[in-house]
Amino acid sequence: MPKKRLFGLLLSTCIVWTGCNQSEPPPPTPPAPAPELNAPESSGGDAANEPTESVPAADSSEKPKMEEPAEGPSAPNETPESTPAPDPAPATEPAATAIEPMSTSVVLGDPTLTAGIPGEGDLTIEQIQAWLKTPGVHEPLEFELPFGLSLAAGNIKGVEANPLTRAKIELGRQLYMDKRLSADSTVSCATCHDPAHGYAAPTQFGVGINGQEGGRNSPVAYNRILSDKQFWDGRAESLETQAIGPIANPIEMGNTHDACVKTIGEIPGYKAQFDAVFGEGPVTIENVGKAIASFERVIVTGPAPYDYYAALEPFLTQFTPEDLADLKEDDPDVYARYEKLKADADANPMSESAIRGKQLFFSDKSNCTACHAGANFTDELYHNLGVGMAVEEPDLGRFAETKEDKDRGAFKTPTIRNVALTAPYMHDGSQKTLEEVVEWYVKGGHPNDHLSDKVKKLELSDQDKADLVEFMKACTGAFPKVELARLP
Ligand code: HEC
Ligand code: HEC
Repeated sequence: MPKKRLFGLLLSTCIVWTGCNQSEPPPPTPPAPAPELNAPESSGGDAANEPTESVPAADSSEKPKMEEPAEGPSAPNETPESTPAPDPAPATEPAATAIEPMSTSVVLGDPTLTAGIPGEGDLTIEQIQAWLKTPGVHEPLEFELPFGLSLAAGNIKGVEANPLTRAKIELGRQLYMDKRLSADSTVSCATCHDPAHGYAAPTQFGVGINGQEGGRNSPVAYNRILSDKQFWDGRAESLETQAIGPIANPIEMGNTHDACVKTIGEIPGYKAQFDAVFGEGPVTIENVGKAIASFERVIVTGPAPYDYYAALEPFLTQFTPEDLADLKEDDPDVYARYEKLKADADANPMSESAIRGKQLFFSDKSNCTACHAGANFTDELYHNLGVGMAVEEPDLGRFAETKEDKDRGAFKTPTIRNVALTAPYMHDGSQKTLEEVVEWYVKGGHPNDHLSDKVKKLELSDQDKADLVEFMKACTGAFPKVELARLP
């Protein structure tokens, strides 16, 4: 078969997400060193670790930056001309003079987006002013999603209404980490959506001010750029609307919006940033929401072993060794791409068990992709698995929003990306491990009048169950490095 045709085929199966994943498992590529699944740290910026875009796609020079070591935002990717940062700040502030122009074209996850304003300790007003004058920080960013998640580029939400800029993201970062947004300065967004716990919390329920508990588990605050409706029941229309909810929720941050914007407006460093980002005027709660939402939108999961494997897989399953040998002669560029993908996959290996788990996850036998579909592994829809339905007055989830019977006990499908980092699971935090979750599906959920017809008892061996868990662990990719302190 002419190689060109073969490629056309390959390309088309790969762009359709599930198309890449229906094939038989090939023999695992190289003998695998122990997979380092939840190691968000640097892989040294080695060229071999830089992922390529999807298989034989057009030339892509983009390089996700997530895995590069980054100590401070001093590494703009492309600075055409090196204009020194204009810095009329008083000569007494040496830290603020080091700011260089910032690139406006990035791959989300680039650590320079979330590394905070350069310097140490509490932010000074001089540092903030110098930052706000840095060329590039107010420009709307041109951005791509990291390799893997990039297949979901068509589902990006919210950035037209609220364009991403570095200054807005940085302001959102500060607000997200800042406990002063709560009534008694004890709780921040990061308390329940903690970067150290996969942007979720290790507790069954969210724990707010004065130790108060809600009735739902803290969902993850990453890959939010891919959904508009927020909450387990989808009751918030956008990330912006969602972000200001917890501030005034009596059991979360226990504040009022008025008191919150007053507090923020009285902090000169915040006032200066709101003026520069949103225009002069009083700080508003809507703008607080816009800034926080922008920060959340750049918290994305980096490439996982699964992504490298999925990109390489068509070469492994649709090409014989002879085809590959021919390819080397006939189309050296595509062959080079194959070699690069293979090197990436070798450096981020999937175990044999994870590879089997992947086949199973994408098969009718498990039916997982009936709901956990697409590059972020969610259909963004609501389903009843019977979780929490065994009690007298169950949480009815989506029903509260729609009042439609079919939505009783239905909750939004969560992502599988980085799920290994975010136990406990389900809207009520009732399941402690991924093994427990898999058992839930094997027994067909919990019977109730509104159980999804996509949930049925599964015939899975112990090995199958273990493989599914291994697959989910292989969906773990690096988070961007985020500065946790550095507040004004
Ligand atoms: C006290 C713990 C707590 C605090 C503080 C808190 N959250 Fe949440 N968050 C939760 C819980 C619990 C839910 C789920 C509630 C629901 O679905 O009804 C949630 C839901 C969310 C969601 C929806 C995610 C999704 O997949 O739909 C986002 C986004 C979010 N919070 C961001 C924030 C931000 C931003 C802040 C700070 C302004 C914040 N949270 C403060 C506990 C908390
Ligand atoms: C009918 C749609 C559907 C199917 C099929 C399905 N899921 Fe889910 N999944 C959901 C929904 C909805 C939730 C949240 C339910 C809740 O909290 O009440 C969920 C939750 C999860 C969670 C917990 C995530 C978290 O952050 O709490 C994991 C893990 C998971 N599913 C894995 C799987 C696997 C593995 C399969 C296949 C065996 C599967 N799912 C099949 C819809 C589905």
